[in-house]
Amino acid sequence: MRIVIAKDYEDLSRKAAHVIAGQLIMRPDTVLGLATGATPLRCYELLTHMAEEKLVSFRQCKIFNLDEYYSLSPENPQSYGYFMKQHLFSRVDILPENTFIPNGLAENIAQECQAYEDLIRRAGGIDLQLLGIGRNGHIGFNEPDVSFEAFTHLVALDQDTIQANSKFFNTREEVPKTAISMGIKTIMQARGILLLASGAEKAETVYQMVYGKISPDVPASVLQIHPNATVLVDEAAGQRLQEMQNKVL
Ligand code: GLP
Repeated sequence: MRIVIAKDYEDLSRKAAHVIAGQLIMRPDTVLGLATGATPLRCYELLTHMAEEKLVSFRQCKIFNLDEYYSLSPENPQSYGYFMKQHLFSRVDILPENTFIPNGLAENIAQECQAYEDLIRRAGGIDLQLLGIGRNGHIGFNEPDVSFEAFTHLVALDQDTIQANSKFFNTREEVPKTAISMGIKTIMQARGILLLASGAEKAETVYQMVYGKISPDVPASVLQIHPNATVLVDEAAGQRLQEMQNKVL
């Protein structure tokens, strides 16, 4: 696990955008896994600027998103499908047929999950997976106690996640209670992982992810055994890591 501590949110976003841009330049037909949430927003904005300036192109790449709320259609402004269109897909030159996100309206959930895994496999697997982290240590929507063996599946959201994500809804009651998410196994099979965390409220979770026991209690802790994972945090989210490094020195 590589740890990079950026100065602040802007610096973190710039560094993340550069990693993704670098991947697109080295391998234009790359397969990216992307995340939603507030953390990657500025990174996506910087990527749209780079695409406008023709520094990068998404024309040949494929993008698979981590997760989608169950029961929300992509036309619903609260859905992750809508989020991705609004913040990235409609603003860069990616082909719509090369963007993938679990279908939140699927009637046969097991079939939808299997089909999503098949699509990832047929694309050749994910080259670079971008992740955020929930306050409870979730990645994608893999909440504490998830099986590390799970592929894409239906998950029940934790109360803490519902509370945290209610910032995107008018009321807490509107937040869906379930979602379809890539599983830990899907995420671990990505060839590279870049996890972003910003702000002091993530500091303890980031510390547990990096130095804690590898355990489903903190799903992101599994990244300690990924062969090519980078954790990119700002100083606020990394404050406990720095304390630890000072101790070691
Ligand atoms: C959601 C998403 C995650 C994301 C997390 C953190 O629950 N499913 O993929 O990483 O929120 O979000 P934020 O970046 O807003 O803190």
